[in-house]
Amino acid sequence: MLDYPLRLLPATADEWLGPLPVREAFANPEHPLAVDLGCGKGRFLLARAARQPEVNFLGIDRMLRRIRKVENRARRLDLANIRLLRVEAYYAVAHLLPPVSVRTYYIFFPDPWPKARHEGNRLFNPRFLDALHRTLVEGGEAHVATDHAPYFEQLSAVFAEDRRFAAIAPYVPPEDEQTDFERYYIGQTPIGRLSVRRI
Ligand SMILES: C[S@@+](CC[C@H](N)C(=O)[O-])C[C@H]1O[C@@H](n2cnc3c(N)ncnc32)[C@H](O)[C@@H]1O
Repeated sequence: MLDYPLRLLPATADEWLGPLPVREAFANPEHPLAVDLGCGKGRFLLARAARQPEVNFLGIDRMLRRIRKVENRARRLDLANIRLLRVEAYYAVAHLLPPVSVRTYYIFFPDPWPKARHEGNRLFNPRFLDALHRTLVEGGEAHVATDHAPYFEQLSAVFAEDRRFAAIAPYVPPEDEQTDFERYYIGQTPIGRLSVRRI
């Protein structure tokens, strides 16, 4: 069992303003960085990090309870390539993650904010794509899945209008990497999947 904390905590006002030295938090800073944005209870993150020890994984979620749960599981499983950050997703991508630092984003089942008056709270919009573009390395990828058809249409349109990203074959996780939300919706609702590469 890992006997050290896996949570990143910005230590100074400057670190809170970003960029946060994320790579340096890993034992192998030279390894590529993958980010699970809105990692929830971490089913995907834990399985993927175990499968890819040569990749550093950062799980981000705003719910402390979930971050703590994933941290405990990762420590029990000796997953030294996982770090966790409890912070708002847009803020992390727009300000905290260093520029040109992320090879892969996984953004599975982001909150759909189904009511029309709440749509402005959705993560995907042109401003968020600016932040993704800022942080992805050239050729880096973002994989998205949602059960909410109107949100899928909206986010697909936002990507289609942005020439900085090209659609690639969607990422379909193997059974052991399916997130809790995917396991809940699979077979009940069609799941929209979109994967893109930063040009
Ligand atoms: C619908 S759940 C999906 C969790 C996981 N990806 C899955 O597929 O099972 C959305 C997750 O994103 C987190 N979340 C929602 N909005 C967020 C935000 N603005 N910043 C950070 N985390 C957020 C929630 O706490 C929750 O864990």
